[in-house]
Amino acid sequence: MPFDLTHRPRRLRKSANLRRMVSETTLSVNDLIYPLFVDEGIDTAVEVKSMPGVNRIPLSDVANMVKTVEDAGIPAVIFFGIPTEKDAIGSGGWDDEGIVQQAIRVAKQACPDMVVIADTCFCEYTDHGHCGVLHGEEVDNDETLTNLQKEAVSYAKAGVDIVAPSGMMDGMIQAIRQGLDKAGFQDTPIMSYAVKYASGYFGPFRDAADSTPIFGDRAQYQMDPANRREAIKEALLDVDEGADMLMVKPALAYMDIIREVKDATQLPMAVYNVSGEYAMVKAAAANGWIDEKRVVLETMLSFKRAGADMIITYHALDIAVWLNE
Ligand code: PBG
Ligand code: ZN
Repeated sequence: MPFDLTHRPRRLRKSANLRRMVSETTLSVNDLIYPLFVDEGIDTAVEVKSMPGVNRIPLSDVANMVKTVEDAGIPAVIFFGIPTEKDAIGSGGWDDEGIVQQAIRVAKQACPDMVVIADTCFCEYTDHGHCGVLHGEEVDNDETLTNLQKEAVSYAKAGVDIVAPSGMMDGMIQAIRQGLDKAGFQDTPIMSYAVKYASGYFGPFRDAADSTPIFGDRAQYQMDPANRREAIKEALLDVDEGADMLMVKPALAYMDIIREVKDATQLPMAVYNVSGEYAMVKAAAANGWIDEKRVVLETMLSFKRAGADMIITYHALDIAVWLNE
């Protein structure tokens, strides 16, 4: 005997085509950005132990790698550099012959249409692993801003399409905008790591990029995971300073923040599906505990549903294949 129910949402879930018609969110290769680690000190690719399927690559592999990304239909890559020389201030970051500058030139030569983004920070270039110049045990904000201007201009001169400052220095967007404009790069956009939390999920990345701080942590510049209102404040400051795109990072544990930043701003928004999120999925999948493809596609769709316009993810090449099946 059926109940006299008025509402039966299951009516619209009855067939695959019906479900397709009422689906609210889509995921496509257009949404993806693929991270690349370029290591000045190697001749052949080396797998990152904690990130199966992700390699540090030598400069000689950059052209091929970027072509692979282009063939997959993915519109953008983001470069991280591992230099052979480090110093106290990270001066390798603004060396016009630095590893990221070389990678940018090679990538743009091989694939002129590829959108080449450069992570703009100093933790890979400093011998102490912090994201800027130290005074005692503290990162000096404003001195680091001056260096960020030099680094951004150097990347722009190499032909980068977007600079992406990730160090959470106050005023970094304003400083970089001024630096780029003064050097004639008014049209180089800035993707701000506007809302970046001091997160345990960056662990595997620090192996990949050799950027673990030798003392302390990044809590004096990256955000406290407890804070929500502060995320909106950081995002609005970066809008005000002239950011062209915003980012929330990490992604999976911060879905609420993704939605709130999206609702509070009008800029295109990226989320960073970080190394620890990737490592967890890979470990569980390797054990046969989860269906990797299903879980990854569900997670990506959920980032889109939460408000992401773009997703930086180590899964990007796999996703491109899966979306084509
Ligand atoms: C550099 C930077 C980090 C990541 C991106 N840019 C590491 C950090 O802040 O320690 C993390 C990316 C990832 O975990 O995948 N500031
Ligand atoms: Zn950094």
